Amino acid sequence: MQLTQRQQRTLAALKQAPVRRILFVCLGNICRSPAAEGVMRAIVGEEGDEARWEIDSAGTGRWHIGQLPDKRMRIHARRRGIELTHICRQVTPSDFDDFDLIIPMDSDNEENLRAMAPSPEAEEKIIPMAAFVDRAMRYDYIPDPYYEGAEGFELVLDLLDSGCRRLYQELR
Ligand code: 4NP
Repeated sequence: MQLTQRQQRTLAALKQAPVRRILFVCLGNICRSPAAEGVMRAIVGEEGDEARWEIDSAGTGRWHIGQLPDKRMRIHARRRGIELTHICRQVTPSDFDDFDLIIPMDSDNEENLRAMAPSPEAEEKIIPMAAFVDRAMRYDYIPDPYYEGAEGFELVLDLLDSGCRRLYQELR
């Protein structure tokens, strides 16, 4: 997947802002989006750039509200030196005010967010994670690892590492 011209304009405008406020979104907010949050925090931390970034995650579903990320996701992230400590929450309409970019992991998440967006301007904040992932990886979404084995969690982390590095470069 590639960035559209409109998405590139959204990113170019955000690059001028003093703080980049980014919300990652998946279905459960216990696997993919808290992992994206952790990977992005690690990259921003490596660069000593924490003051310019606000990073959070949320889910379109409500089953796991109040919980830590899935234990399997935490174990795979920890092997890469990333501790996932996010507490699960559901996306709310006010997230469209509180964040500059809202990044869904797959097309279901994206459709749910588009339906929730309070205005066309708010909808322009939605850019799918796969738009930032290296095209050579040949994924146009971040696959849900919940019913998968260890390789599913590793794949998610590989895709998120690629996507978050590109996202950081686009906005640094
Ligand atoms: P996530 O994975 O959307 O990456 O957090 C899922 C976690 C839980 C469920 C589905 C997906 N669930 O159905 O409970």
